[in-house]
Amino acid sequence: MELNLVGEEKSSRHLEQLLLDLETTGWAKVDNFIDQKLLFSLLELFKNELSNDSFESAAVGVDWRNRLDKGIRHSQVSWIEDWHSVSELQQLKNLFDGYLEVLNSHFYMSLKRYESQLAFYPQGGYYKKHLDQIKGRNNRQVTMVLYLNECEEGGELVVYDRDDKMKVASTIKPLAARCVIFFSSQIYHEVLPTFSPRFSLTTWFRDDLDGIRIEF
Ligand code: OGA
Ligand code: MN
Repeated sequence: MELNLVGEEKSSRHLEQLLLDLETTGWAKVDNFIDQKLLFSLLELFKNELSNDSFESAAVGVDWRNRLDKGIRHSQVSWIEDWHSVSELQQLKNLFDGYLEVLNSHFYMSLKRYESQLAFYPQGGYYKKHLDQIKGRNNRQVTMVLYLNECEEGGELVVYDRDDKMKVASTIKPLAARCVIFFSSQIYHEVLPTFSPRFSLTTWFRDDLDGIRIEF
């Protein structure tokens, strides 16, 4: 197993813990997932995107245009299309490439790629309880959410128990550089209404080579 993803002793211990938690509970949380400098520039980039209006209203279901449902989700999203456009995204790509390898070797998975979506939840934004896999479409295997700003009030991620989807396993504050990872087919989760602006990047590791991008 490759443990030296970020090249530091501390990081490999974090990674070991993450894999252990993921294995035993289906989800894991890790703080300081990226350093302050990268965090700061990503957030800047992200805010720029938002002011340039390249966000779409987040949609629900396969055909987002027809199934846009404000009752389930209220946020704005933008897909990352070009990982080579700026060095910050390239750095993130290196990190995610490493995770894909580690997840494959540790869990005997056959993840082949990932897709990432920036999300902005304005004040009052939320995302009701859901699973990241649509029945019959099993290509999203692992979800990784990286929080990019200090969301001061509300906007917690509620993670439900793998074996009892009515039971709350944890209520997680979206703190800057915090990352939550879980098996997409197993963990129900929900974003509580936020009272402060909330920026995050959700990445789905998939086991198909290509296919339609599913919105929800
Ligand atoms: C999602 C999601 C959780 C979060 O994008 O599917 O559930 O905390 N995000 O942003
Ligand atoms: Mn989700």
